[in-house]
Amino acid sequence: MVSSGAFLFPGLYRFLCLFLGFFCSLPLLGICDESESDRQALLCFKSGISAPAGVLSSWSNASMEFCDWHGITCSVTPPRRVVALDLESQGISGSIAPCITNLTWLARLQLSNNSFSDGLPSELGLLSRLTNLNLSINALEGNIPPELSACSQLQIVGLWNNSLHGEIPPTLGQCKCLQEINLSNNKLQGSVPPAFGDLPELRILVLASNTLTGNIPPSLGSSRHLTYVDLGINALGGVIPESLANSSSLQVLRLMKNNLTGELPKALLNTLSLVTICLEKNSFVGSIPSVTVTSSPIKHLSLRFNNLSGGIPSSLGNLSSLVHLLLTDNHLVGSIPESLGYVPTLGVLTLTMNNLSGPVPPSIFNMSSLKSLAIAKNSLVGRLPFDVGYTLPKIQDLILTENSFDGPIPASLLKAYHLRWLYLINNSFTGSIPFFGSLPNLEELDLAHNKLEAGDWGFVSSLSNCSRLTMLALDGNNLKGKLPSSIGNLSNSLEWLFLSSNKISGPIPPEIGNLTSLNSLYMNYNLLAGNIPPTIGKLHNLVYLSFAQNRLSGQIPDTIGNLVQLSVLELDHNSVDGRIPASIARCTRLTELILAYNSLDGRLPS
Ligand SMILES: *[C@@H]1O[C@H](CO)[C@@H](O)[C@H](O)[C@H]1NC(C)=O
Ligand SMILES: *[C@@H]1O[C@H](CO)[C@@H](O)[C@H](O)[C@H]1NC(C)=O
Ligand SMILES: *[C@@H]1O[C@H](CO)[C@@H](O)[C@H](O)[C@H]1NC(C)=O
Ligand SMILES: *[C@@H]1O[C@H](CO)[C@@H](O)[C@H](O)[C@H]1NC(C)=O
Ligand SMILES: *[C@@H]1O[C@H](CO)[C@@H](O)[C@H](O)[C@H]1NC(C)=O
Ligand SMILES: *[C@@H]1O[C@H](CO)[C@@H](O)[C@H](O)[C@H]1NC(C)=O
Ligand SMILES: *[C@@H]1O[C@H](CO)[C@@H](O)[C@H](O)[C@H]1NC(C)=O
Ligand SMILES: *[C@@H]1O[C@H](CO)[C@@H](O)[C@H](O)[C@H]1NC(C)=O
Ligand SMILES: *[C@@H]1O[C@H](CO)[C@@H](O)[C@H](O)[C@H]1NC(C)=O
Ligand SMILES: *[C@@H]1O[C@H](CO)[C@@H](O)[C@H](O)[C@H]1NC(C)=O
Ligand SMILES: *[C@@H]1O[C@H](CO)[C@@H](O)[C@H](O)[C@H]1NC(C)=O
Ligand SMILES: *[C@@H]1O[C@H](CO)[C@@H](O)[C@H](O)[C@H]1NC(C)=O
Repeated sequence: MVSSGAFLFPGLYRFLCLFLGFFCSLPLLGICDESESDRQALLCFKSGISAPAGVLSSWSNASMEFCDWHGITCSVTPPRRVVALDLESQGISGSIAPCITNLTWLARLQLSNNSFSDGLPSELGLLSRLTNLNLSINALEGNIPPELSACSQLQIVGLWNNSLHGEIPPTLGQCKCLQEINLSNNKLQGSVPPAFGDLPELRILVLASNTLTGNIPPSLGSSRHLTYVDLGINALGGVIPESLANSSSLQVLRLMKNNLTGELPKALLNTLSLVTICLEKNSFVGSIPSVTVTSSPIKHLSLRFNNLSGGIPSSLGNLSSLVHLLLTDNHLVGSIPESLGYVPTLGVLTLTMNNLSGPVPPSIFNMSSLKSLAIAKNSLVGRLPFDVGYTLPKIQDLILTENSFDGPIPASLLKAYHLRWLYLINNSFTGSIPFFGSLPNLEELDLAHNKLEAGDWGFVSSLSNCSRLTMLALDGNNLKGKLPSSIGNLSNSLEWLFLSSNKISGPIPPEIGNLTSLNSLYMNYNLLAGNIPPTIGKLHNLVYLSFAQNRLSGQIPDTIGNLVQLSVLELDHNSVDGRIPASIARCTRLTELILAYNSLDGRLPS
């Protein structure tokens, strides 16, 4: 290993450095070659790791200065000392040997995105010039050594995506130069050190995805440069300190998935700095604070999955930069404020699972920026405006499930070119089903449980133009007449077809067998007659099949045995006869087979 002639007498060097140590800080004297000690430290570090072939080959090249080794940066002026070790994303495994701390000039240690394991050596605290420590995305275990706080120059600490345990050392709050701390995705416990709030330069604090408990220290609100706080996915309790919500520097506040309670701070929506507020999945109560400022920078506001009550303040309409407003699953009441419809940038509005009532204000259906409107599971009433397809030109997802909307499905929706999901389930829509064929992006069309009619079934052949369609649900409507054979021309990506509980009569078209991606086919509770077409056996991906409660006759086709994925088969309440085909034994995944109320005879094949 040691191949340089300059290092034939290591004992001698140690002797010199020990005795002449004070000279070593006077490089011009040149008596003591501290560089040699760096070389030794690097070789010692190397002996603790293994790297893929080639990565560290320069480290074994006798004719190369260590300053030219891969990943090494040395100071420019003599003595040439190692100031940075950059080996991120090199596929290195092994442990970080304590001897690395003999690189006493080291300012940057960047070993992220490797497979370093074992613990962080407490000796890291000896690196008094260290400013940037990045060991993120490794497999480090054990505690964060409190000794790290001796690194008085430390500005950046990145230890995210490891398996670090224990508490965050409160002494880190003594590193007054700290600007960025990211310890997310570890197994850290204990509380957020209040001393972090006293770090004068702190900009970014990310402690997300740990198991931290206790309260959010109010001191964080007094940190003058703090712009980004992410304490999400922990077990923090208590309230959001008013001081934090009223910080004049904070741009991003993410506290989702904790155990936070109490009312939201009055200042929350009224700072001139906050852009992103994500407080979802906590237990906040009380009402949404009102907006009193006129030019708020808030773009993303998520208060989903909390216990908020009261009305949606109409002053939210004064958040003129708002892009996402997510209020799903609270206890909000009253009507949707008209003012929200005038926010020029709003792209995503989700108010699902509240107790909102009354008609949706016309302004909401008139938003040129809106991509997603989800207002399911409320008590909303009224009709969709006839021109809604023109007035929501960017709409992709329109989710109106479980309300009391009525009237026809406006034909203008056929002009909503970007429409991807249309969910109108459990309302009282009437009239015939529009010809959706002009919507190339349509993926999920769920019109179940309304009062819709099939007309001449022309909508089915039209839908064959929607090549991305994966779900068509029309169950629980007033569809009458024969299923057209064009049903077989629906997209070959169709996975779910629900036609139950209508009054569909006549035979099942054999073309149904063309829908080879189908996972679920439900046609129960109709007036279907004739034989079960043998082409059903082509539906190799079918898991759920129900023809129950119809008037089907003839024998069960042998091809049923080709449905090897089938888990549920319901044919009860029909007039099928003959024997149960032996081939059914090939359907080994069947967990539910209902054949009652037919004229079958013979034995059930084992
Ligand atoms: C060792 O380094 C020298 C000088 O940079 C270079 O010319 C030589 O090719 C290297 N040898 C190997 C085996 O990489
Ligand atoms: C991590 O390293 C791998 C290669 O080892 C690379 O593909 C990946 O992009 C790196 N990830 C990051 C976040 O740097
Ligand atoms: C630093 O180097 C000296 C001399 O080679 C050695 O005795 C000491 O153990 C090293 N320190 C660490 C922490 O490895
Ligand atoms: C650390 O390195 C990773 C990728 O290697 C990078 O994404 C990150 O920004 C760096 N800094 C911190 C503080 O994590
Ligand atoms: C960090 O960890 C999370 C969760 O374990 C994982 O989803 C993510 O991909 C990781 N990030 C990187 C850059 O490796
Ligand atoms: C902090 O770490 C997470 C990984 O857990 C990463 O996704 C995120 O980008 C980092 N944040 C900052 C501000 O560096
Ligand atoms: C959340 O807080 C409640 C009481 O405030 C407590 O009973 C519960 O255990 C806490 N849950 C977690 C995950 O800390
Ligand atoms: C927010 O801070 C400002 C100035 O720092 C102060 O005047 C105001 O009273 C604070 N608001 C709240 C609700 O604490
Ligand atoms: C949240 O609301 C639910 C349902 O109203 C209630 O059972 C629960 O106790 C509430 N939780 C809190 C923390 O108020
Ligand atoms: C929005 O701001 C304007 C101008 O300050 C004000 O007149 C209006 O009342 C505010 N709207 C709401 C809904 O608070
Ligand atoms: C919804 O509000 C109505 C009054 O508007 C009330 O009767 C009903 O109990 C509320 N439902 C829920 C689930 O809170
Ligand atoms: C559709 O089904 C019919 C009847 O089974 C069959 O004749 C036709 O070839 C099928 N078309 C395609 C494209 O599979």
